[in-house]
Amino acid sequence: MSTDTPGRVLIAADRIAERVAELGAQIAADHAGSEPVVVSVLKGGFVFAADLVRAIDLPLAVEFLAVQSYGDATRSSGVVRLTLDLALPIAGRDVLLVEDIVDTGLTCSYLLEHLAALGPRSLKLCALLHKPARQQLPLTIDYLGFTIPDVFVVGYGLDAAQRHRNLRDIRVLD
Ligand code: IMP
Ligand code: MG
Repeated sequence: MSTDTPGRVLIAADRIAERVAELGAQIAADHAGSEPVVVSVLKGGFVFAADLVRAIDLPLAVEFLAVQSYGDATRSSGVVRLTLDLALPIAGRDVLLVEDIVDTGLTCSYLLEHLAALGPRSLKLCALLHKPARQQLPLTIDYLGFTIPDVFVVGYGLDAAQRHRNLRDIRVLD
């Protein structure tokens, strides 16, 4: 790693890989016989989604949504804006929303509501990280990677002002 690697490691790359494999196996077992649509949320969820779909041993489709809720601050602006919508219909399909992190829960609640209105057969949420201390809205996370404390993390897709998404570990910025 280069000398400007920030903060300290919270979850190392090999632990992430192990957990992603477990989640993929669980998702595949729960969706056996189906061809689900995995909806990846840009940008933060793209690394997790890329690893997760390869751990799901089923035929599946991948779709993308993009939202902006943060600007470059490390606290939620409280406003969620959809900047990219699905390219294909999901009516009647088993849909899995894949997010990097549930913080206040605002983004996921908004996106689940948006997807539910499109008439999927089933709709589940998979989040890599959850910060329960900051959650404001009730939310069921069907598949969760790790529960973390109220710290700001970067790496494995997560950014601080668009930086550090390419780090292999999840790190805490102090
Ligand atoms: P929520 O709407 O408050 O749940 O926030 C969800 C979004 O905020 C996530 O998809 C992330 O993009 C961003 N976010 C929340 N916490 C962190 C963090 O610790 N590091 C980087 N991004 C975060
Ligand atoms: Mg995000």
